[in-house]
Amino acid sequence: MHNDIAEVLFTEDEIARRVDEIGAQITRDYAEATDEGIVLVSVLRGAAIFMADLARRIELPVEMDYMAVSSYGDGAKSSGVVRILKDLASEIEGRHVVVAEDILDSGLTLKYLLKNLASRHPASLEVATLLRKKTLAQAKIECKYIGFECPDRFIVGYGLDYAERYRNLPYIGVLKPEMY
Ligand code: XMP
Ligand code: MG
Repeated sequence: MHNDIAEVLFTEDEIARRVDEIGAQITRDYAEATDEGIVLVSVLRGAAIFMADLARRIELPVEMDYMAVSSYGDGAKSSGVVRILKDLASEIEGRHVVVAEDILDSGLTLKYLLKNLASRHPASLEVATLLRKKTLAQAKIECKYIGFECPDRFIVGYGLDYAERYRNLPYIGVLKPEMY
């Protein structure tokens, strides 16, 4: 285990098994869409690793597209005011869209994003989040696919970073508080 990690929450194997299950669930849920398939939208950069693994567990045509957003304000807290830094490359009107997120904390980022995507009139719009923090105040968001519930601590690994580090850890863990 990396020296800066206080505790491993989910091992590489546990993540792989859960991603496998979500992929199978999506494959079943969109069985009617075997022709057109779905568009997986990942929110850069944290969700890129989750989406790459999830895409390979879905047995349907899958397009992959990316958005980058930044919330105003800095660091660990999200303000809910979101700026789009990079928009989707493709139109999603009439398409089945699944947004892959790394972690749902306050939910404010995702709430903004879903409103924005819904205004483009996709055929359907769902969310697959790898992690959902158990927080007291969380925006009410319909999240159809949830990987794991996690404690309200600072989480890194498998895409999640602190100051751009630790994204490449194959497991998900809690960062030692003295690191930030
Ligand atoms: P909100 O509060 O809008 O925040 O749901 C979502 C985004 O905030 C980042 N975030 C984290 N990143 N470890 C991280 O590496 C965490 O524990 C954490 N909590 C929130 C993340 O980018 C997420 O998409
Ligand atoms: Mg993120």
